Amino acid sequence: MQKATVQPSQTTSIAGLFDALLAQQIANPRDRDIFRVRVQRHFNDCFAGLDALYAQHPAWPALLEQLAERLVAAYAQRRDVLKIHDLAREIEPDWFAQARMVGGIYYVDRLAGTLRGVIEQIDYLQDLGLTYVHLMPLLQPRCGPNDGGYAVQDYRAINRELGSIADFIELSDLLRANGMSVCIDVVVNHTAKEHEWALKARAGDPTYLDYYLSFADRSLPDAYEQHLPEVFPDFAPGNFTWYPELGEHGRWVWTTFNEFQWDLNYANPMVWLEMLDILLHLANLGVDVLRLDAVPFMWKRLGTNCQNQPEVLDLLQSWRAAMRIVCPATIFKAEAIVAPDDLVQYLGLGQRTGKLCEIAYHNSLMVLLWSGLASQRADLLTQSLLNMPATAGNATWITYVRCHDDIGWAITDQNAALVGEDGPLHRQFLSAWYSGEFAGSFARGEVFQYNPITNDRRISGMTASLAGLEQALANADPTAIELAIRRIGLLYAVIFGFGGIPLIYMGDELGMRNDHSYLNDPCKANDNRWLHRPAMNWALAAQRHDPTTLAGRLWHLIRNLITIRQQTPALHSAGQTIPIWTQQRHVLGVIRVHPLGRILILGNLSAEPQRVALSVIHEAGLVGNLHNLLEPARLNIDVQSAEIVLDSYQCCWLCEPAKNF
Ligand code: GLC
Repeated sequence: MQKATVQPSQTTSIAGLFDALLAQQIANPRDRDIFRVRVQRHFNDCFAGLDALYAQHPAWPALLEQLAERLVAAYAQRRDVLKIHDLAREIEPDWFAQARMVGGIYYVDRLAGTLRGVIEQIDYLQDLGLTYVHLMPLLQPRCGPNDGGYAVQDYRAINRELGSIADFIELSDLLRANGMSVCIDVVVNHTAKEHEWALKARAGDPTYLDYYLSFADRSLPDAYEQHLPEVFPDFAPGNFTWYPELGEHGRWVWTTFNEFQWDLNYANPMVWLEMLDILLHLANLGVDVLRLDAVPFMWKRLGTNCQNQPEVLDLLQSWRAAMRIVCPATIFKAEAIVAPDDLVQYLGLGQRTGKLCEIAYHNSLMVLLWSGLASQRADLLTQSLLNMPATAGNATWITYVRCHDDIGWAITDQNAALVGEDGPLHRQFLSAWYSGEFAGSFARGEVFQYNPITNDRRISGMTASLAGLEQALANADPTAIELAIRRIGLLYAVIFGFGGIPLIYMGDELGMRNDHSYLNDPCKANDNRWLHRPAMNWALAAQRHDPTTLAGRLWHLIRNLITIRQQTPALHSAGQTIPIWTQQRHVLGVIRVHPLGRILILGNLSAEPQRVALSVIHEAGLVGNLHNLLEPARLNIDVQSAEIVLDSYQCCWLCEPAKNF
């Protein structure tokens, strides 16, 4: 990125432009002042990103003018209640990093049918203790197959089957009033081929043809393909699709995902601007967190895999700064399921510290936890975490065990080699383990998108099914049931203590398992990610307060983690997260360092009890008496051997009892 800043002459003209627009559209002088202060603070960051990307583009002068117009127009439309919310968040900029944050992920239709149905279930979300609710794709998708809602036809309309804009505003206001922030998905990399821009492109409008990436013949697509991986090699091979009706004689459209999802052309500044307008519109509905879908793919460069290009960071930085001027209460979550070194970039490192996304999925932690459970070893997990660059500034992770997508074994060969593993073999082992093919496996997942060229086999399945509960119940094996519950408890205990916002995937709190009903729906049958997108089981939910039921045990387990986390301010994300070697290959160790004190997370990844020397705990900075925050009564110290004994799959959060957390 060039270190461009607004030049003095431009400052005068841009400030003058903002002043004129504010005078026309914003009646309240205090609101105008607030806007101006934010422009002074953030406009340079917006400008720098745009300058790096578009300074040579013919639309450059018009871009800045239109940007100013759209920012002021969006500010004029912002409701007073949200403007107050903005001020509150500016006063408390670490709101999303606090230990009180705990999220849940829900498909609206699967949770409660419609948005109005969700309003009826707010009590349930509150009972669980959530402070953040991610409502899965909500915007109007195309008809027919739509990749679970990720093929959006209209970004300004709520999916008609789920409700209306008015319902959404009512729900988000209610959630906020009950202490819960709202996250929704914005698919920024592509639109449905039925989106109005695509329809205009298909009707021959050259302006809109330039909103997408398309080619008259195969020469460039073939050149790009040499370095492009396939996201859905099974049901959507290749990255380009031929559309005979496009252009004069047909064109190849860039379609990274399904053929009906057309990649946008961000080399065109109007695309950046239009999408900004959509982000502002959604923020004005009351969205707190915008989950930017598939961000790594937004910029293409010949000879590369067309992911994580530096320009993507410019695009994000400019959006980020623009949003901070109009609606600072809204933050960005990056959906970047990429290698660790690339992943941390989205949280803003170096010069971009504090300028990109506030949160991003910790895909590596999720993958490595499952890897650790299968191998019963912590070394690859520890090594990979140690090799990840630290996050900077206020930015933090979304930690999770499962989400609506498959698990891809994003483990680098280099990290595997450092702990004596062969990367490809280990990844094959994990696929075999979690698909249940491996002898002795406890898991009941399914292979998603086998790629015969790379031998890559991703995995679908609910947490409970992957962790052994489905098989244990099928075999009516009480010991196996107990172990499966402990595995789920271990995974969630680690993500709750690790640092960041932990997310609970819908139904995990009740031990919900794989659901094969998707096979009856022709729009879903070829995509087994629906295996782990079951409809909420309200009969199970009704058992949640009964500790003699399975659902009740899991509910209690997760509810307890929530309570303890929320009572432990030292788990604020600003604390450091430092992985350590426990000198015990089966036990994961992570220290959380915070001015209020240290917490050492120890997680036994094996089905057997394991011992960790007290000297390891002392070296981690815990020298006094020990207290297990998670289960005070379950702290087993063998004084004679000077070791702590962890039960099978036990996770402890150790601290010194005198500390005031
Ligand atoms: C994201 C979504 C995934 C979808 C893809 C394409 O990765 O999580 O479900 O298939 O984007 O939009």
